[in-house]
Amino acid sequence: MSGDSQKTFYLETFGCQMNVHDSEKVIGTLVQQGYRQVETVEQADLILYNTCSIRDKAEQKVFHRLADFKKLQSQGKKFGVLGCVAQQEGDRIFERAPHVSLVCGSASYRNLPEMLVQIEAGKRATGLDDRQTDECFETEFTARTNPYRGYITIIEGCDKFCAYCVVPFTRGKERSRTSDSVLEEARQLVDLGYSEIQLLGQNVNSYKDPAGKRSFAELLAAVGEVPGIKRVRFTTSHPRDFGRDIVEAIDAVPALCDHVHLPVQSGSTRVLGAMQRLYTREQYLERIGWMKSAKREISITTDVIVGFPGETEADFVETLTLLEEVGYDSVFTFKYSPRPNTPALKLDDAIPDQEKARRLEVVMAKQREIQIAQNKRHIGTVREVMVEGRNDLRAQWIGRTSQNKTLNFTASGPAMAKVGTYAQVRILSTFPNSLLGEMVV
Ligand code: SAH
Ligand code: SF4
Ligand code: F3S
Repeated sequence: MSGDSQKTFYLETFGCQMNVHDSEKVIGTLVQQGYRQVETVEQADLILYNTCSIRDKAEQKVFHRLADFKKLQSQGKKFGVLGCVAQQEGDRIFERAPHVSLVCGSASYRNLPEMLVQIEAGKRATGLDDRQTDECFETEFTARTNPYRGYITIIEGCDKFCAYCVVPFTRGKERSRTSDSVLEEARQLVDLGYSEIQLLGQNVNSYKDPAGKRSFAELLAAVGEVPGIKRVRFTTSHPRDFGRDIVEAIDAVPALCDHVHLPVQSGSTRVLGAMQRLYTREQYLERIGWMKSAKREISITTDVIVGFPGETEADFVETLTLLEEVGYDSVFTFKYSPRPNTPALKLDDAIPDQEKARRLEVVMAKQREIQIAQNKRHIGTVREVMVEGRNDLRAQWIGRTSQNKTLNFTASGPAMAKVGTYAQVRILSTFPNSLLGEMVV
């Protein structure tokens, strides 16, 4: 327990950037309720897990972890499960882990203050709004932990129901914030000293302004034009809703980063159909074509799932040829894993794990070759980086380019580069996952 009388909490976060940013809002809300954040479980009165359920038997891992904590209950500590596993498992969490007193999904965080009062009174509290049709979790108490990149959620939930995915069940229906409130928050972030903003949504480009004022591309451009903002990122874009106007906005507004993450999942139209992804290989490639014909050089990254039920060797080869055709700068590759509630659960998950692992290896090896070749194009060019840190062992600064690449660099005096500022760096050599250079200004 803490030495003083102030209530303390420990929060650990798993999963995507939406979860990371939700945690920033949860922390702000708890602090506003008189809690103090601590760095270890031992110091905490309240232990919270903000969980992810996307793959790999996520719920089992959460239950194992909760079991480890059971012994701490005798010290008077309380436990809460937040996020996607909380929404998915609901009251079952109390059955399997009776020492838990709070279970709350992301659509109910705005009720956290009342729930805290309940658990402090020794009761159990749940926030499992299964309609999830209400507004977004906007709070003025966000405790931003990333000092350089300010996250702003613009749309929550997902209505796409891809056959393999839990998100529509854990995050509820798609709901957007007004573009005016997003712009207001962007201006506040500038006042707090941020020059880089990342707009977030499970499908950020499915954004629909409830006030009908701006399209997603118009909102992007408007955020990019807020005085003081130098960089605007946005993730994740869904190919079905990816319009040419997004590419036009990137061309027109320099503050928009020249990077688009556009998850393809598979290169086979047949598998895309079975996944219910709502586009074909050709339609996906058409969108890639728009980006390649842009005036700026747009870096493209993606997600791939291998071993979806029924994926044949021929389908898999189509994913490999797609990787070559697009020339991605980075690919996140996952083995298909069956998830609760999803339509694909009815399909036979017949591809053995060993074969999924082989396909994963093949994709990663192919992509590594592509990245080695692709990154060479940067040699000799000068790129602007945001200085994000320093590696003292290597006497290098760590920078990030607009294309979201890590560009490590040397500067002739340590005083020249400064974390949180921008620098111009000439690229001297390249690796599969990073670039190396020297600061020129
Ligand atoms: N909304 C985004 C993806 C969010 S989930 C989109 O539609 O593109 C992040 C990634 O996790 C997905 O792109 C997918 O590649 C992976 N993923 C989701 N469910 C999965 C599952 N059941 N098995 C394996 N990978 C999965
Ligand atoms: Fe999941 Fe598909 Fe929604 Fe992405 S679009 S979050 S993969 S259901
Ligand atoms: Fe995971 Fe939920 Fe994000 S399942 S990936 S934390 S939306």
